[in-house]
Amino acid sequence: MPASINRTIISIVIFFVLTTGTASSRDFRLGLVTPPTHTWTGAAVAFGKDVEQSTAGKHRIVVFPSRQLGNEAQMLQLLQTGALDFAILTVSEISNRAPAFSAFYTPYLVKDVSAAAVVLRSEAAREMLKMLPGEVGVFGLGYCLAGMRQLVSRDAVSTIADIRGKKIRITPFRAIKDFYVFAGMAPIPMPLASVYDAFANGQIDALDMDLEATWKLKYYDHAHTVLISNHMMFPALALLSGKTWLRLSEKERNLFQRLMRKHLDLVIDSYLEKEKQWEADLLRAGVNITRIDSGFFGDTVSLWETKWATQVPEITKLKRVAAGYRHRGHQE
Ligand code: BEZ
Repeated sequence: MPASINRTIISIVIFFVLTTGTASSRDFRLGLVTPPTHTWTGAAVAFGKDVEQSTAGKHRIVVFPSRQLGNEAQMLQLLQTGALDFAILTVSEISNRAPAFSAFYTPYLVKDVSAAAVVLRSEAAREMLKMLPGEVGVFGLGYCLAGMRQLVSRDAVSTIADIRGKKIRITPFRAIKDFYVFAGMAPIPMPLASVYDAFANGQIDALDMDLEATWKLKYYDHAHTVLISNHMMFPALALLSGKTWLRLSEKERNLFQRLMRKHLDLVIDSYLEKEKQWEADLLRAGVNITRIDSGFFGDTVSLWETKWATQVPEITKLKRVAAGYRHRGHQE
């Protein structure tokens, strides 16, 4: 083929790629810390199937569960460099870098998963996503959650005095650390993958955890009591690398966002349904279940708010959303 025709063909291809902005066919990588049995991992796989179907196999999502690509801090770095395309991460790591997101961890902001769902689906929460590209270099596609936080204890607990001074495992972020310091406990930051052994061998006395993980990851094997405290929601974000975002066409961005939001919403719905079931499962397994409210923690909640409310104005905005939900008849 003469060189001039070759050059023309190459120019046409370059023109087509530049003007349409369409990313070529490829596999996108999605990372999570949760194991294959977890609701988030199920959602990631279902999202991948939807993407493959909607693009007639042009794009595929390869899911890496169970910290295969590193812990959440490491995955966030991979997203920033573009070595990872998508991740579903707890809001915790993001809140360490963009403090506004700590507002979701306001103790007793909401009473249960239904109220948490309203906050996570609110305009105020969506507005916060706009901070992510500038502050963290990633795009927030939307929110889901892992239910509410509970307190899982190796020994029997009746009052705060029973756990004061005890070592409690926390997910590594500042808002939860403060909560337990104010409650008089010794918070130990620890990734999910290390929790079972640490609880089994007595390195920690209690867990800050949700009901799904307590049940599915068998933390109840070593628990005498689960205090159903619902002291915080445990939100997550689906994130897209800023670098990947730039390579996508408008159509692809919209598609990924729409499909991811669909699956995040299904995750929220499934917690609305399943939290009761996991509680019943734990009871059947012989775990003592005790319901407590904010009074159990004494002045912990007000100490937390005194420290955080002035630093994070988003707390007031999310409280307004939660209060609106209560006033519409969803009483605590
Ligand atoms: C945790 O760190 O406790 C956690 C992380 C992801 C999903 C559920 C729980």
